[in-house]
Amino acid sequence: MSLQSSSIRPQEDHINKTAIITGATAGIGRACANRLLGQGWQVCILGRNLSKVYTAEIIEDYNLSLYDCDYTDLKSVARALNEVLAEYTEIDLCIHSSGIIMGQYVETIDKIETQFQVNYLVQFYISQQVRGHLTPSGKICFVGSEEHRKGSLHLGNIFLKEKYEPRTMYQRTKLCQVLYAKKLDTTLDYEQGGVVLVVHPGTVNTGFGGKNLSGLKKWFWELYGTLREGTTAGEAADTLMKVISYDPYNTQLYYKELRPVTATEQIENTKLVDDLYATSLDMCRYAGVDCVDVCK
Ligand SMILES: NC(=O)c1ccc[n+]([C@@H]2O[C@H](COP(=O)([O-])OP(=O)(O)OC[C@H]3O[C@@H](n4cnc5c(N)ncnc54)[C@H](OP(=O)(O)O)[C@@H]3O)[C@@H](O)[C@H]2O)c1
Repeated sequence: MSLQSSSIRPQEDHINKTAIITGATAGIGRACANRLLGQGWQVCILGRNLSKVYTAEIIEDYNLSLYDCDYTDLKSVARALNEVLAEYTEIDLCIHSSGIIMGQYVETIDKIETQFQVNYLVQFYISQQVRGHLTPSGKICFVGSEEHRKGSLHLGNIFLKEKYEPRTMYQRTKLCQVLYAKKLDTTLDYEQGGVVLVVHPGTVNTGFGGKNLSGLKKWFWELYGTLREGTTAGEAADTLMKVISYDPYNTQLYYKELRPVTATEQIENTKLVDDLYATSLDMCRYAGVDCVDVCK
């Protein structure tokens, strides 16, 4: 059986290459998984409701491994990732496409605001563990957003608990992605290899943002989705795949679709970058998971 929107045949140079993807049960992440499976990659997907999306037939026909976990429970993510890394010790690509927009303040089982955990902390945790398994030509790619430019970060009031604003929180999580990508990038050097990328995929019609709304708000969001101009998830995946396949030694951190551009100047604020990094490590520890410190 063939995968939806996967028209690419297996390619010799992708056989024996392993990718980990988050957020691959829907939207952009799922389309990326389809592309990679179609090219013959070994694809490891961490997520929930996996069997609803990936049938036994797909698992049989492609190099697909599924690891059940919920991003709102870091221990479940740690268990799933341990299984992946026990089986696949060398990782060629890690794509982070997990994402959610919450209409109101909701804490995860780890006592962390949900958007912060799903959009950023899970990606941080997985990248920290994957870093040491990355092949010299390996890449870690975050699906980012231009919204990061409007983001601000105050570590004293990180979850906006008292006055929750869904969009402000979303912008904050996308800012955290680029701040962390900047930090991770400092741990990779030319000799050892490895590349970190953040790619804004453009506006993509996936229904993202409306999934946790109800009633009139949901209706308006869906109507807006039909009116706004955007690409399909498959087109966004093609953009990501092109950026990922650029020169392995490229030094550009942030891409707006296919164009390398500078990210927010906040990434030059070393104290902010370092403080977020230290806070993220602490959050993982408070959640009861051992997190590698790649900067040690
Ligand atoms: N769509 C756009 O226009 C756009 C633009 C710029 C950037 N982005 C970024 O692109 C990324 C993907 O967005 P998308 O549009 O593809 O959204 P999407 O279709 O809603 O996909 C989000 C993915 O995250 C997963 N997820 C959310 N909460 C989870 C949880 N608790 N446990 C496990 N998995 C969970 C979803 O799984 P379920 O299916 O189980 O919920 C789904 O696989 C996000 O980071 C977003 O910020 C999107």
